[in-house]
Amino acid sequence: MCGIVGYKGNKNAQEILTNGLSCLEYRGYDSSGIAYFINNKIKIEKAIGQIKNLKNKINYKEKSNLGIGHTRWATHGKVNLDNCHPHQVGKITLVHNGIIENYGEIKKKLQQFGYEFYGETDTEVACALIDYNYKKTSNMLKAIKKSINTFIGSYAFLILCSDECDKLYATRNNSPLIVALNNEETFLASDVPAILNYTNKYYLLDNKDIVKIDEKINFYDENLKQVTKKIKKYEIENINISKGKYKHYMLKEINEIDDVVRKTVAPFIIDENTFQSKFNFLSKFEKIEIVACGSAYHAGLIGKYLIEKYSDVNIDINIASEYRYKKHKFNCKTLVIIISQSGETADSLAALRIAKENNAKTLGIVNVYESSIAREADDVIYTQAGPEVAVATTKAYVSQVAIFSLIAMYFKSKNESIKNDLKDLKNLPEKIRNILNKDFQKFAKLIYKQNDVFFIGRQIDYALCMEGSLKLKEISYIHSEAYAAGELKHGSISLIDNNTVVIAINTDKDISLKTISNIKEVKSRGAYVIYLTNDKNIKEKFYDKLILIDNISPLVSPMLAIIPLQLISYYVANLKKCNIDKPKNLAKSVTVE
Ligand code: G6P
Repeated sequence: MCGIVGYKGNKNAQEILTNGLSCLEYRGYDSSGIAYFINNKIKIEKAIGQIKNLKNKINYKEKSNLGIGHTRWATHGKVNLDNCHPHQVGKITLVHNGIIENYGEIKKKLQQFGYEFYGETDTEVACALIDYNYKKTSNMLKAIKKSINTFIGSYAFLILCSDECDKLYATRNNSPLIVALNNEETFLASDVPAILNYTNKYYLLDNKDIVKIDEKINFYDENLKQVTKKIKKYEIENINISKGKYKHYMLKEINEIDDVVRKTVAPFIIDENTFQSKFNFLSKFEKIEIVACGSAYHAGLIGKYLIEKYSDVNIDINIASEYRYKKHKFNCKTLVIIISQSGETADSLAALRIAKENNAKTLGIVNVYESSIAREADDVIYTQAGPEVAVATTKAYVSQVAIFSLIAMYFKSKNESIKNDLKDLKNLPEKIRNILNKDFQKFAKLIYKQNDVFFIGRQIDYALCMEGSLKLKEISYIHSEAYAAGELKHGSISLIDNNTVVIAINTDKDISLKTISNIKEVKSRGAYVIYLTNDKNIKEKFYDKLILIDNISPLVSPMLAIIPLQLISYYVANLKKCNIDKPKNLAKSVTVE
C-alpha cells in the first residue's frame, strides 16, 4: 500500500508534502519520510510511526520548492529508519508504493557491480538499479526506462536526481499515481485526497508512463515517445473530514450509517411501492461471480445468500487473492462483481482484469469515485458511504450490503411482491438510529479481558459472524473466530470452556431452532452466551445476555444486525485503549498483492 506525494511549485514543499502524507496516512503508518532540495542539495528526514512524528522533525523554515514524501506500510524489511523511504543510492533518491518481485535477483547483480545495501527493502534495490542505469546513460529518462524494463511487479515511483535540482520524475505500473496541477504548481500523489486542498485538476498515468516535471509537465510512454494527456476534474466537493464530537472516526462513521443507507438506496426507489429497475441487465446472466477482500468479501457473502434465495442464478463468492489463481470457466453469461470500498485493492483489481481479459462482463460496487476498479469495470454502482477514514470499515460495508439487498429485491420482484421489503428498507435508517442510541458498553465490559471470542450463526447470520469477528480482531486484537453454528462440534468446540464468550446470532426464523440447539451445546460446556436475535418470543433461557433487534424483512435485516457487533468491537477496543482508527499492522487501501 503506502502513500506517496510529490511537489514542485512556489510554496513550501515540506509543508505540502507532510500535509499530503497526513491525508494518505490511511494507506500505511509504520514510518514516513520526505526528501527535498535545499540549496541544490537533497535533504532527507524520516521518522518511525505516525506522520506527526515526522512533522516534529522538520524545519519548515528552510526554503524548498521541490520534494517527495512517503508513508509506509512495511512489506519488505522491519519497521526501522533504514527501511523507511525515501531511499537514496548514489545520485538517485526515491519513494515507492508497490512491490518489486524480482528484487532479490537484481540485488545480487548489483552487488557484483559493487553496490552495498543498508536495508532490506525492494525499494532500495530499485533505487540502486536506476542509479546504475543513470551512471551508464547520464540520462534520467533512459535510466528509468531501462530500469522499468527490468522490474517485475507493481510500482509507483517518485524520483529525484542529485544532478537535476529543478526536476521531478515519476512512473507507475499497477499502483495508483495521479499528477495534479494548479497554475505553476504540480502535485503527485497516490490518491486524490492528498491534493484536494490545492486543486481538483489532475492527469491519470497509464502503466509504464514516465513523467518529467520541470517548467512544465512532460509525459512519455514506455518507448519514451512524448504523449499528451487529458486533464480530469474531480467533481466531488472537498469535504472537510473531521471527527466532530466523536472520540474516533470509527464511532463517527458507525453513527453515519443510517444516513449512508438512506443515500445508497435512494436512487433505486421511486416510491413506497415501486422499485427503480436499474438492475434489468442482471437478467441476462446465468452465473454471477462475486469477488472481494476483507469486509467487502463478507458483504459479498451476504449478497450470495440473498440473491440465491430469490433467483436461479448460480452465485459464486471468492476471496480475490484466491480467485486470481483458480481455473476459470467464464462464458458470455457470466457476470463478475467486484466489491471494493477503496476501488484500489490490488487483488480485487487483478481479479477484475482477469475477468475482462476473458471477456466476462464486470460490475464494480465501489465507494471511491474514479478509483481504478470504478474506471476499469464495464459498469459501476457507487455506494454512497462518503469518505471513510477509520481503517476498519463500518459504513462502507453496510452500504455494500445495501446494494446486494437491492439486487436481491430486484430478483424477488420478478415473482413476488416486494412491498413489505421496500417498506422495511425505507424505515431502516430510523431503526438503525434506535440501535445507535442504545448502550453497548455493557457488552464490551464482558469481553475486553477475554483472550478468545467465538461467533456462531447459520447462513446470513454466519456471514454476519464473520464480519463481527473480523471487526473485533482488527481493532481490539482479541483472537476471535466465526463458525457456522453447526460446524463447531466438528473440532473447535474443544476450545469452549467455562466463561468462553460466544456471540450467537439468530435472525432467520426458518433455521432458528437448529441454531438454538448449537447454542445449547456451547452453553452446556460452560460458555457465556451473548444472544443476538430478532425473536421477541423466546421461550427458554439458553443464553446469558440478550441483544434484541427489530424483526424486519430478511432482505434488510443484515444491515441492522451488524450494528451491535460493530459497536461492541468499538467499545471493547476503547476499553483496551487501542489505536482504534489505525490498528497495528493494517492499512485501509491494500495496494499490494
Ligand atoms: C483492508 C481494509 C478492510 C477492507 C479490505 C478490502 O484490509 O482494512 O477494511 O475490507 O482491505 O478493501 P476494499 O477497499 O477493497 O474494500
